[in-house]
Amino acid sequence: MQASLGAAGALAVGANLTLPALLAAAAGKLEIYSWWTAPGEVEALDALYAVFKKQYPDVDVINAALAGGTGAGGNMKTVLQTRMLAGQPPDSFQVHLGHELIDSHVKAGRMEPIDFLYASEGWNNSFPSGLLQLSSDGGHQWSVPVNIHRSNVLWFNQAVINNSGMSAPTTFDDVFAVGDALKAQGIPMFALGEQAPGHAAHVFETVLQGVFGPDDYRGLWTGATSWSDPRVSGALTTFNHMLDYTNPDYLSIQWGDATDLVIAGKAASVINGDWNNGYLKSKKFADYGWSATPNGAGMYSSLADSFGLPNNTADRDNAISWLKVSGSLAGQDAFNPLKGSIPARTDAGKSADYDNYQRAAMQEFKTLTIVPSVVHGFAARESWVTDYVNAMNVFAANRDVSATAGTLLQAAQDAGVA
Ligand code: GAL
Repeated sequence: MQASLGAAGALAVGANLTLPALLAAAAGKLEIYSWWTAPGEVEALDALYAVFKKQYPDVDVINAALAGGTGAGGNMKTVLQTRMLAGQPPDSFQVHLGHELIDSHVKAGRMEPIDFLYASEGWNNSFPSGLLQLSSDGGHQWSVPVNIHRSNVLWFNQAVINNSGMSAPTTFDDVFAVGDALKAQGIPMFALGEQAPGHAAHVFETVLQGVFGPDDYRGLWTGATSWSDPRVSGALTTFNHMLDYTNPDYLSIQWGDATDLVIAGKAASVINGDWNNGYLKSKKFADYGWSATPNGAGMYSSLADSFGLPNNTADRDNAISWLKVSGSLAGQDAFNPLKGSIPARTDAGKSADYDNYQRAAMQEFKTLTIVPSVVHGFAARESWVTDYVNAMNVFAANRDVSATAGTLLQAAQDAGVA
Protein backbone atom coordinates (compact mmCIF):
# COMPACT_ATOMS: atom_id res chain seq x y z
CA MET A 1 0.00 0.00 0.00
CA GLN A 2 1.37 3.42 -0.96
CA ALA A 3 1.09 6.45 1.29
CA SER A 4 0.69 9.85 -0.34
CA LEU A 5 -0.13 13.35 0.72
CA GLY A 6 -3.67 14.19 -0.45
CA ALA A 7 -4.83 17.54 -1.79
CA ALA A 8 -6.26 18.64 1.56
CA GLY A 9 -3.00 17.86 3.25
CA ALA A 10 -4.25 14.67 4.97
CA LEU A 11 -2.03 11.66 4.52
CA ALA A 12 -4.03 9.31 2.30
CA VAL A 13 -3.14 5.64 2.39
CA GLY A 14 -4.32 3.60 -0.58
CA ALA A 15 -7.60 4.61 -2.20
CA ASN A 16 -9.95 5.57 0.62
CA LEU A 17 -8.21 5.32 3.97
CA THR A 18 -6.61 8.29 5.64
CA LEU A 19 -3.83 7.57 8.09
CA PRO A 20 -5.90 8.72 11.09
CA ALA A 21 -8.65 6.31 10.03
CA LEU A 22 -6.12 3.51 9.76
CA LEU A 23 -4.70 4.26 13.17
CA ALA A 24 -8.18 4.35 14.65
CA ALA A 25 -8.86 0.91 13.20
CA ALA A 26 -5.72 -0.44 14.84
CA ALA A 27 -6.70 0.63 18.33
CA GLY A 28 -9.72 -0.24 20.45
CA LYS A 29 -10.32 -3.75 21.66
CA LEU A 30 -10.59 -7.33 20.48
CA GLU A 31 -12.56 -9.87 22.49
CA ILE A 32 -11.81 -13.53 21.76
CA TYR A 33 -13.77 -16.50 23.11
CA SER A 34 -12.25 -19.94 23.51
CA TRP A 35 -12.09 -22.81 25.98
CA TRP A 36 -8.31 -22.86 25.92
CA THR A 37 -7.53 -22.77 29.62
CA ALA A 38 -5.43 -25.94 30.07
CA PRO A 39 -1.63 -26.17 30.07
CA GLY A 40 -0.42 -26.06 26.46
CA GLU A 41 -3.63 -24.42 25.28
CA VAL A 42 -2.92 -21.27 27.27
CA GLU A 43 0.65 -20.88 25.98
CA ALA A 44 -0.44 -21.58 22.40
CA LEU A 45 -3.17 -18.94 22.51
CA ASP A 46 -0.79 -16.48 24.16
CA ALA A 47 1.70 -17.07 21.35
CA LEU A 48 -0.99 -16.27 18.79
CA TYR A 49 -1.95 -13.13 20.71
CA ALA A 50 1.74 -12.16 20.73
CA VAL A 51 1.88 -12.34 16.92
CA PHE A 52 -1.26 -10.19 16.81
CA LYS A 53 0.11 -7.67 19.32
CA LYS A 54 3.29 -7.31 17.31
CA GLN A 55 1.26 -6.12 14.35
CA TYR A 56 -1.45 -4.27 16.28
CA PRO A 57 0.23 -3.08 19.49
CA ASP A 58 -2.49 -0.59 20.39
CA VAL A 59 -5.36 -3.05 20.32
CA ASP A 60 -6.46 -4.19 23.74
CA VAL A 61 -6.87 -7.98 23.52
CA ILE A 62 -9.52 -9.34 25.86
CA ASN A 63 -8.90 -13.03 26.37
CA ALA A 64 -12.35 -14.36 27.30
CA ALA A 65 -11.25 -17.98 27.66
CA LEU A 66 -13.63 -20.08 29.73
CA ALA A 67 -12.85 -23.51 31.12
CA GLY A 68 -15.15 -25.95 29.38
CA GLY A 69 -16.38 -29.48 29.82
CA THR A 70 -13.89 -32.21 29.13
CA GLY A 71 -12.46 -31.00 25.90
CA ALA A 72 -15.61 -30.16 24.03
CA GLY A 73 -15.99 -26.64 25.36
CA GLY A 74 -19.33 -27.12 27.12
CA ASN A 75 -19.35 -24.03 29.35
CA MET A 76 -17.90 -21.66 26.78
CA LYS A 77 -20.40 -22.82 24.18
CA THR A 78 -23.31 -22.10 26.53
CA VAL A 79 -22.11 -18.57 27.29
CA LEU A 80 -21.28 -17.97 23.63
CA GLN A 81 -24.77 -19.03 22.57
CA THR A 82 -26.33 -16.54 24.97
CA ARG A 83 -24.23 -13.74 23.51
CA MET A 84 -24.94 -14.81 19.92
CA LEU A 85 -28.70 -14.99 20.54
CA ALA A 86 -28.65 -11.57 22.19
CA GLY A 87 -26.91 -10.13 19.11
CA GLN A 88 -23.86 -9.24 21.21
CA PRO A 89 -21.22 -11.64 19.95
CA PRO A 90 -17.56 -11.57 20.91
CA ASP A 91 -15.34 -10.31 18.08
CA SER A 92 -14.35 -13.86 17.22
CA PHE A 93 -14.52 -17.28 18.85
CA GLN A 94 -12.96 -20.74 18.67
CA VAL A 95 -15.17 -23.05 16.66
CA HIS A 96 -14.62 -26.50 15.15
CA LEU A 97 -14.79 -26.81 11.40
CA GLY A 98 -17.61 -28.94 10.07
CA HIS A 99 -21.04 -29.34 11.60
CA GLU A 100 -20.28 -27.23 14.66
CA LEU A 101 -19.45 -24.17 12.55
CA ILE A 102 -22.01 -24.66 9.81
CA ASP A 103 -25.05 -26.01 11.66
CA SER A 104 -24.74 -24.09 14.91
CA HIS A 105 -23.68 -20.71 13.58
CA VAL A 106 -23.77 -20.30 9.80
CA LYS A 107 -27.16 -21.85 9.10
CA ALA A 108 -28.51 -19.93 12.07
CA GLY A 109 -27.59 -16.79 10.12
CA ARG A 110 -25.26 -15.39 12.74
CA MET A 111 -21.97 -15.24 10.79
CA GLU A 112 -20.54 -13.02 8.09
CA PRO A 113 -18.94 -14.78 5.09
CA ILE A 114 -15.19 -14.18 4.83
CA ASP A 115 -14.66 -14.87 1.12
CA PHE A 116 -12.96 -11.46 0.91
CA LEU A 117 -10.26 -12.70 3.31
CA TYR A 118 -9.83 -15.98 1.46
CA ALA A 119 -9.23 -13.84 -1.65
CA SER A 120 -6.97 -11.17 -0.11
CA GLU A 121 -4.88 -13.65 1.95
CA GLY A 122 -4.67 -16.32 -0.77
CA TRP A 123 -6.21 -18.88 1.59
CA ASN A 124 -7.85 -20.88 -1.19
CA ASN A 125 -4.33 -22.12 -1.91
CA SER A 126 -3.15 -22.35 1.70
CA PHE A 127 -5.24 -25.17 3.17
CA PRO A 128 -5.91 -28.81 2.23
CA SER A 129 -9.03 -29.14 0.08
CA GLY A 130 -10.78 -31.18 2.80
CA LEU A 131 -10.50 -28.25 5.21
CA LEU A 132 -11.65 -25.76 2.56
CA GLN A 133 -14.81 -27.85 2.17
CA LEU A 134 -15.42 -28.01 5.91
CA SER A 135 -15.20 -24.25 6.33
CA SER A 136 -17.57 -23.57 3.44
CA ASP A 137 -21.31 -23.64 2.97
CA GLY A 138 -23.55 -22.29 0.24
CA GLY A 139 -20.54 -21.30 -1.85
CA HIS A 140 -19.04 -19.10 0.89
CA GLN A 141 -16.18 -19.42 3.35
CA TRP A 142 -17.08 -18.88 7.01
CA SER A 143 -14.00 -19.35 9.17
CA VAL A 144 -10.25 -19.80 9.04
CA PRO A 145 -8.66 -22.98 10.49
CA VAL A 146 -5.68 -22.55 12.82
CA ASN A 147 -4.77 -26.20 13.22
CA ILE A 148 -5.54 -29.85 12.68
CA HIS A 149 -5.79 -32.04 15.76
CA ARG A 150 -5.61 -35.82 15.76
CA SER A 151 -8.01 -37.30 18.30
CA ASN A 152 -7.25 -41.05 18.19
CA VAL A 153 -3.97 -41.17 20.07
CA LEU A 154 -2.89 -43.30 23.04
CA TRP A 155 -0.34 -41.36 25.08
CA PHE A 156 1.72 -43.46 27.45
CA ASN A 157 4.33 -43.13 30.14
CA GLN A 158 7.29 -44.88 28.55
CA ALA A 159 8.90 -46.01 31.83
CA VAL A 160 5.65 -47.51 33.10
CA ILE A 161 5.17 -49.47 29.88
CA ASN A 162 8.82 -50.62 29.95
CA ASN A 163 8.50 -51.74 33.57
CA SER A 164 5.49 -53.85 32.68
CA GLY A 165 7.77 -55.89 30.43
CA MET A 166 5.42 -55.31 27.50
CA SER A 167 5.55 -53.04 24.48
CA ALA A 168 3.12 -50.29 23.57
CA PRO A 169 -0.21 -51.82 22.52
CA THR A 170 -1.73 -51.41 19.08
CA THR A 171 -4.80 -53.69 19.22
CA PHE A 172 -7.58 -54.25 21.75
CA ASP A 173 -6.05 -57.65 22.58
CA ASP A 174 -2.68 -56.00 23.25
CA VAL A 175 -4.26 -53.37 25.45
CA PHE A 176 -5.81 -55.92 27.73
CA ALA A 177 -2.62 -58.04 27.82
CA VAL A 178 -0.58 -54.99 28.85
CA GLY A 179 -3.42 -54.00 31.17
CA ASP A 180 -3.22 -57.38 32.96
CA ALA A 181 0.56 -57.06 33.40
CA LEU A 182 0.07 -53.58 34.85
CA LYS A 183 -2.83 -54.68 37.05
CA ALA A 184 -0.46 -57.08 38.75
CA GLN A 185 1.63 -54.00 39.62
CA GLY A 186 -1.41 -52.06 40.81
CA ILE A 187 -1.30 -49.59 37.90
CA PRO A 188 -4.34 -48.92 35.73
CA MET A 189 -3.74 -49.13 31.99
CA PHE A 190 -5.95 -46.12 31.28
CA ALA A 191 -6.51 -42.76 32.87
CA LEU A 192 -9.89 -41.13 32.34
CA GLY A 193 -11.36 -37.83 33.55
CA GLU A 194 -15.14 -37.81 33.24
CA GLN A 195 -16.08 -35.35 35.97
CA ALA A 196 -17.76 -33.30 33.25
CA PRO A 197 -19.20 -35.06 30.18
CA GLY A 198 -16.79 -35.46 27.26
CA HIS A 199 -13.74 -37.62 27.84
CA ALA A 200 -15.66 -40.92 27.97
CA ALA A 201 -17.42 -40.00 24.71
CA HIS A 202 -14.06 -39.09 23.21
CA VAL A 203 -12.53 -42.45 24.15
CA PHE A 204 -15.64 -44.28 22.96
CA GLU A 205 -15.52 -42.69 19.51
CA THR A 206 -12.03 -44.17 19.13
CA VAL A 207 -13.43 -47.55 20.21
CA LEU A 208 -16.16 -47.21 17.55
CA GLN A 209 -13.43 -46.43 15.00
CA GLY A 210 -11.42 -49.49 16.04
CA VAL A 211 -14.45 -51.78 15.97
CA PHE A 212 -16.16 -50.49 12.80
CA GLY A 213 -13.19 -49.41 10.66
CA PRO A 214 -13.18 -46.12 8.76
CA ASP A 215 -16.06 -46.59 6.32
CA ASP A 216 -18.61 -48.08 8.68
CA TYR A 217 -17.59 -45.65 11.45
CA ARG A 218 -18.21 -42.72 9.08
CA GLY A 219 -21.50 -44.34 8.17
CA LEU A 220 -22.70 -44.16 11.77
CA TRP A 221 -22.81 -40.36 11.38
CA THR A 222 -24.25 -40.25 7.87
CA GLY A 223 -26.93 -42.91 8.27
CA ALA A 224 -25.13 -45.48 6.11
CA THR A 225 -24.36 -47.67 9.16
CA SER A 226 -27.22 -48.48 11.51
CA TRP A 227 -26.95 -47.82 15.22
CA SER A 228 -28.86 -51.08 15.72
CA ASP A 229 -25.81 -52.89 14.30
CA PRO A 230 -24.69 -55.41 16.98
CA ARG A 231 -21.17 -53.96 16.77
CA VAL A 232 -22.45 -50.93 18.73
CA SER A 233 -23.14 -53.17 21.73
CA GLY A 234 -19.85 -54.91 21.05
CA ALA A 235 -18.00 -51.58 21.20
CA LEU A 236 -19.80 -50.67 24.43
CA THR A 237 -18.82 -54.03 25.90
CA THR A 238 -15.19 -53.38 24.95
CA PHE A 239 -15.29 -49.91 26.44
CA ASN A 240 -16.90 -51.32 29.59
CA HIS A 241 -14.02 -53.79 29.80
CA MET A 242 -11.55 -50.91 29.39
CA LEU A 243 -13.17 -49.22 32.38
CA ASP A 244 -12.04 -52.21 34.47
CA TYR A 245 -8.50 -51.10 33.62
CA THR A 246 -9.09 -47.43 34.45
CA ASN A 247 -8.42 -45.24 37.50
CA PRO A 248 -11.45 -45.89 39.76
CA ASP A 249 -12.03 -42.20 40.52
CA TYR A 250 -12.59 -41.26 36.87
CA LEU A 251 -15.99 -39.70 37.63
CA SER A 252 -14.42 -37.12 39.91
CA ILE A 253 -11.42 -35.93 37.88
CA GLN A 254 -10.96 -33.96 34.63
CA TRP A 255 -9.01 -34.83 31.46
CA GLY A 256 -5.96 -32.83 32.58
CA ASP A 257 -5.98 -34.65 35.92
CA ALA A 258 -6.04 -37.92 33.96
CA THR A 259 -2.91 -36.85 32.08
CA ASP A 260 -1.34 -35.89 35.41
CA LEU A 261 -1.87 -39.51 36.57
CA VAL A 262 0.13 -40.68 33.54
CA ILE A 263 2.88 -38.14 34.24
CA ALA A 264 3.06 -39.34 37.85
CA GLY A 265 3.23 -42.99 36.75
CA LYS A 266 -0.07 -43.69 38.53
CA ALA A 267 -1.63 -44.76 35.24
CA ALA A 268 0.09 -46.08 32.13
CA SER A 269 -1.72 -44.19 29.40
CA VAL A 270 -4.51 -41.89 28.36
CA ILE A 271 -6.51 -41.75 25.17
CA ASN A 272 -6.90 -38.15 24.08
CA GLY A 273 -6.33 -35.79 21.19
CA ASP A 274 -2.95 -34.25 20.54
CA TRP A 275 -3.75 -31.21 22.68
CA ASN A 276 -2.44 -33.72 25.20
CA ASN A 277 0.92 -33.39 23.46
CA GLY A 278 0.82 -29.67 24.26
CA TYR A 279 -0.24 -30.47 27.82
CA LEU A 280 2.65 -32.92 28.37
CA LYS A 281 5.17 -30.46 26.95
CA SER A 282 3.79 -27.65 29.07
CA LYS A 283 4.27 -29.85 32.14
CA LYS A 284 7.85 -30.46 30.99
CA PHE A 285 7.28 -34.22 30.96
CA ALA A 286 9.45 -35.79 28.29
CA ASP A 287 9.29 -39.55 28.93
CA TYR A 288 6.18 -40.23 26.91
CA GLY A 289 5.38 -42.19 23.81
CA TRP A 290 2.32 -42.48 21.64
CA SER A 291 0.56 -44.85 19.32
CA ALA A 292 -2.76 -44.88 17.54
CA THR A 293 -5.70 -45.97 19.69
CA PRO A 294 -6.43 -49.74 19.61
CA ASN A 295 -7.10 -51.05 16.07
CA GLY A 296 -6.92 -47.47 14.79
CA ALA A 297 -3.46 -47.42 13.21
CA GLY A 298 -4.67 -46.70 9.67
CA MET A 299 -6.94 -43.85 10.69
CA TYR A 300 -6.31 -40.19 11.42
CA SER A 301 -9.35 -39.14 13.41
CA SER A 302 -9.32 -35.43 13.00
CA LEU A 303 -10.81 -32.07 13.82
CA ALA A 304 -9.80 -28.47 13.29
CA ASP A 305 -10.14 -25.37 15.43
CA SER A 306 -11.00 -22.18 13.57
CA PHE A 307 -12.06 -18.56 14.02
CA GLY A 308 -14.86 -16.78 12.19
CA LEU A 309 -16.54 -13.39 12.00
CA PRO A 310 -19.88 -13.08 13.82
CA ASN A 311 -22.44 -10.59 12.51
CA ASN A 312 -22.44 -7.21 14.25
CA THR A 313 -19.19 -7.56 16.16
CA ALA A 314 -18.34 -4.49 18.20
CA ASP A 315 -14.82 -4.37 16.73
CA ARG A 316 -15.15 -5.69 13.19
CA ASP A 317 -11.87 -4.28 11.86
CA ASN A 318 -9.90 -5.78 14.73
CA ALA A 319 -11.73 -9.07 14.28
CA ILE A 320 -10.67 -9.10 10.63
CA SER A 321 -7.06 -8.43 11.66
CA TRP A 322 -7.33 -11.32 14.14
CA LEU A 323 -8.54 -13.67 11.42
CA LYS A 324 -5.66 -12.61 9.17
CA VAL A 325 -3.16 -13.39 11.93
CA SER A 326 -4.86 -16.71 12.74
CA GLY A 327 -4.60 -17.82 9.13
CA SER A 328 -1.06 -16.52 8.61
CA LEU A 329 2.12 -18.56 8.40
CA ALA A 330 3.62 -16.69 11.37
CA GLY A 331 0.45 -17.19 13.44
CA GLN A 332 0.19 -20.92 12.76
CA ASP A 333 3.89 -21.58 13.37
CA ALA A 334 3.69 -19.73 16.69
CA PHE A 335 0.50 -21.43 17.86
CA ASN A 336 0.81 -25.07 16.82
CA PRO A 337 4.16 -26.16 18.29
CA LEU A 338 2.73 -25.29 21.72
CA LYS A 339 -0.80 -26.55 21.02
CA GLY A 340 0.43 -30.04 20.12
CA SER A 341 -1.40 -30.03 16.80
CA ILE A 342 -0.19 -29.68 13.22
CA PRO A 343 -0.77 -26.45 11.30
CA ALA A 344 -3.71 -26.18 8.93
CA ARG A 345 -1.61 -24.32 6.35
CA THR A 346 0.21 -26.65 4.00
CA ASP A 347 3.25 -24.33 3.82
CA ALA A 348 3.63 -24.17 7.63
CA GLY A 349 5.20 -26.72 9.96
CA LYS A 350 8.79 -26.41 8.82
CA SER A 351 10.16 -24.58 11.84
CA ALA A 352 12.40 -26.32 14.36
CA ASP A 353 9.81 -25.64 17.06
CA TYR A 354 7.75 -28.66 16.03
CA ASP A 355 8.46 -31.89 17.92
CA ASN A 356 8.90 -35.47 16.68
CA TYR A 357 5.27 -36.32 17.25
CA GLN A 358 4.16 -33.36 15.16
CA ARG A 359 6.61 -34.10 12.36
CA ALA A 360 5.31 -37.67 12.15
CA ALA A 361 1.71 -36.45 12.35
CA MET A 362 2.23 -34.07 9.41
CA GLN A 363 3.24 -37.05 7.29
CA GLU A 364 0.51 -39.33 8.62
CA PHE A 365 -2.16 -36.73 7.93
CA LYS A 366 -1.23 -37.09 4.26
CA THR A 367 -1.13 -40.88 4.16
CA LEU A 368 -3.70 -42.25 6.63
CA THR A 369 -7.47 -42.45 6.18
CA ILE A 370 -9.13 -39.34 7.58
CA VAL A 371 -12.15 -39.98 9.78
CA PRO A 372 -14.15 -37.28 11.55
CA SER A 373 -14.27 -36.78 15.31
CA VAL A 374 -17.79 -36.48 16.63
CA VAL A 375 -17.10 -35.02 20.09
CA HIS A 376 -15.10 -32.24 18.46
CA GLY A 377 -17.71 -31.01 16.05
CA PHE A 378 -16.64 -32.50 12.74
CA ALA A 379 -19.01 -35.45 12.26
CA ALA A 380 -22.42 -34.46 13.58
CA ARG A 381 -24.49 -31.50 14.54
CA GLU A 382 -24.35 -30.11 18.05
CA SER A 383 -27.65 -31.48 19.38
CA TRP A 384 -26.66 -35.00 18.39
CA VAL A 385 -23.16 -34.55 19.80
CA THR A 386 -24.72 -33.43 23.09
CA ASP A 387 -27.02 -36.48 23.21
CA TYR A 388 -24.11 -38.77 22.39
CA VAL A 389 -21.77 -37.16 24.94
CA ASN A 390 -24.41 -37.30 27.67
CA ALA A 391 -25.23 -40.94 26.88
CA MET A 392 -21.58 -41.84 27.35
CA ASN A 393 -21.36 -39.84 30.56
CA VAL A 394 -24.29 -41.85 31.94
CA PHE A 395 -22.66 -45.04 30.68
CA ALA A 396 -19.43 -44.21 32.49
CA ALA A 397 -21.48 -44.19 35.71
CA ASN A 398 -23.98 -47.03 35.22
CA ARG A 399 -22.06 -49.17 32.67
CA ASP A 400 -25.34 -50.49 31.28
CA VAL A 401 -24.55 -51.75 27.76
CA SER A 402 -28.06 -52.46 26.54
CA ALA A 403 -29.63 -49.28 27.94
CA THR A 404 -26.85 -47.19 26.40
CA ALA A 405 -27.12 -48.95 23.03
CA GLY A 406 -30.80 -47.98 23.12
CA THR A 407 -30.02 -44.37 24.03
CA LEU A 408 -27.44 -44.08 21.23
CA LEU A 409 -29.94 -45.50 18.72
CA GLN A 410 -32.57 -43.05 19.94
CA ALA A 411 -30.09 -40.17 19.61
CA ALA A 412 -29.39 -41.14 16.00
CA GLN A 413 -33.13 -41.38 15.30
CA ASP A 414 -33.68 -37.95 16.86
CA ALA A 415 -30.93 -36.63 14.60
CA GLY A 416 -32.88 -38.06 11.67
CA VAL A 417 -30.25 -40.48 10.40
CA ALA A 418 -31.22 -43.88 11.81
C1 GAL B 1 -10.97 -29.69 21.58
C2 GAL B 1 -10.30 -28.55 20.87
C3 GAL B 1 -8.86 -28.56 21.16
C4 GAL B 1 -8.58 -28.68 22.63
C5 GAL B 1 -9.44 -29.73 23.30
C6 GAL B 1 -9.32 -29.79 24.81
O1 GAL B 1 -12.35 -29.68 21.34
O2 GAL B 1 -10.49 -28.69 19.49
O3 GAL B 1 -8.27 -27.39 20.63
O4 GAL B 1 -8.76 -27.46 23.19
O5 GAL B 1 -10.78 -29.56 22.95
O6 GAL B 1 -9.69 -28.60 25.43
